[in-house]
Amino acid sequence: MTKGNHNSPDLKSGKGSKDFSKYFDFSDAKVISEEEGKITYRIKGRNVQINSQPDYKEGKRRGKEEIEVHYDFEIPEEMQNFGVDKYYHITTYGCQMNEHDTETMKGLLEQMGYKSVDDRNHADLILLNTCAIRENAEDKVFGELGHLKNLKIEKPGLLLGVCGCMSQEEGVVNRIMSKHGFVDMIFGTHNIHRLPHLIKEAVFSKELVVEVWSKEGDIIENLPKKREGMRAWVNIMYGCDKFCTYCIVPFTRGKERSRRPEDVIAEVRELARQGFKEVTLLGQNVNAYGKDFTDIDYTFGNLMDDMRLIDIPRIRFMTSHPRDFDDKLIEVLGKGGNLVEHIHLPVQSGSTAVLKKMSRKYTREAYLELVRKIKISVPNAVLSTDIIVGFPGETDEQFEDTLSLVREVGYDMAYTFIYSPREGTPAAAMEDNVPMSVKSERLQRLNDLIKENSRIINDRMLGEVVEVLVEGESKNNSEVLSGRSRANKLVHFEGPKELIGTFVKVRITDTKTWYIKGDIVAEAAAVH
Ligand code: 5AD
Ligand code: SF4
Repeated sequence: MTKGNHNSPDLKSGKGSKDFSKYFDFSDAKVISEEEGKITYRIKGRNVQINSQPDYKEGKRRGKEEIEVHYDFEIPEEMQNFGVDKYYHITTYGCQMNEHDTETMKGLLEQMGYKSVDDRNHADLILLNTCAIRENAEDKVFGELGHLKNLKIEKPGLLLGVCGCMSQEEGVVNRIMSKHGFVDMIFGTHNIHRLPHLIKEAVFSKELVVEVWSKEGDIIENLPKKREGMRAWVNIMYGCDKFCTYCIVPFTRGKERSRRPEDVIAEVRELARQGFKEVTLLGQNVNAYGKDFTDIDYTFGNLMDDMRLIDIPRIRFMTSHPRDFDDKLIEVLGKGGNLVEHIHLPVQSGSTAVLKKMSRKYTREAYLELVRKIKISVPNAVLSTDIIVGFPGETDEQFEDTLSLVREVGYDMAYTFIYSPREGTPAAAMEDNVPMSVKSERLQRLNDLIKENSRIINDRMLGEVVEVLVEGESKNNSEVLSGRSRANKLVHFEGPKELIGTFVKVRITDTKTWYIKGDIVAEAAAVH
């Protein structure tokens, strides 16, 4: 199969138009050359090769066209040894999806002969895999680009790329070009497999290469991945169609598309064969898995049921949307086995009115009902969540609803955020009369409550014996080993390093807010 739908816009007619000028400042641009889907401009003293650029309108369109799966990925022959004797460094921001994309890019680069280097002063290629979810994530990247400028001046041969979610934002390409013109490549989340081509274009043309596809219905299988440790991530689907009003992800990650079950199952089986102990199935909204299949009736519940049959000790998944969390999945999770008891179930707010403005499509009551059903089916379920405070117009009362929901559910853990307006999303245009000082205060109160909850839940574990997958030495003390329980609790205990990569039973002797301490009772030999 070949890649047919390179979503290249009409660059010529777009030039100077209202929409197109959002991406590039063309006031002094000259066309130098053009061929199909690729135009080179001279802009601000630099040649810029534009293969395509982001477009939110195009990105929001959710077509009914078939999703193509490509199994024929290959690194172009002329690039296969291009990285020999060269070093790369990738800095990753944001979520596990980005971490996993980085593993793919590392896999691609290493197949080209590149080696990884920790000290980026020694790198020939530096990539920033960026996150766009909140403004502070972006500020970090722009700050980093400021630092990298000096390195690029010292080492003009250094190849510098910006990729990930920020590249998919309409305004970012323009900003990089005007303020950080020394960048060599900008490419989006749908263009990762094109990395070898982009390197080639950037090196041989010496132009800034921009390739950001707005809407991509395709899935590229068989991309190499460099995984480390004993825990592996596996994508089961890409993109998101939920369009929560605050969220940029549906624009940066494209439409929902599921990998074929046979491909996911084969990948997890292979990871089991290689000795991985834990797999986390990844998707922006894993509960929508399979909804895009037109030929089979197969959903996330079916996939999890099939995961139980694979000989791998632990299966996790992230992230869930409460709206699509169906009874089939609840029933399958209740079967336990290698399906662990930890469920990350973002609620975002405890107020039905705020949830409505967020377009989450469930009420406070429906969420609580879902939690109740999960707790019945999975009696020792451990729940964590994501919460946004200070959504436009959130009242004190509505915030109190969030606090009361947190008390009622009894989360073990929660990621909490102050609402950050994202340009182009509906919430960014909503009137916001909540002062920042109030938002910060609310965040503090919420965090205090969650801390208190976690402490109480942890204290209840005193004396219990938990199964721990030993991951390594603890960060602050090399005498102490650290690992995770099935419920994803961080556990510290003393023991020999030979235990790293195995399962042990640990009796809990002491609890802190964010981790628990214990003593080894026995090696859990029965668990692989
Ligand atoms: N502002 C603050 N938090 C956000 N999140 C997503 N978009 C925003 C935003 N604009 C949070 C949500 C989501 C998590 C990954 O990030 O809680 O679940
Ligand atoms: Fe964003 Fe998650 Fe909502 Fe999708 S479901 S729009 S990724 S918050």
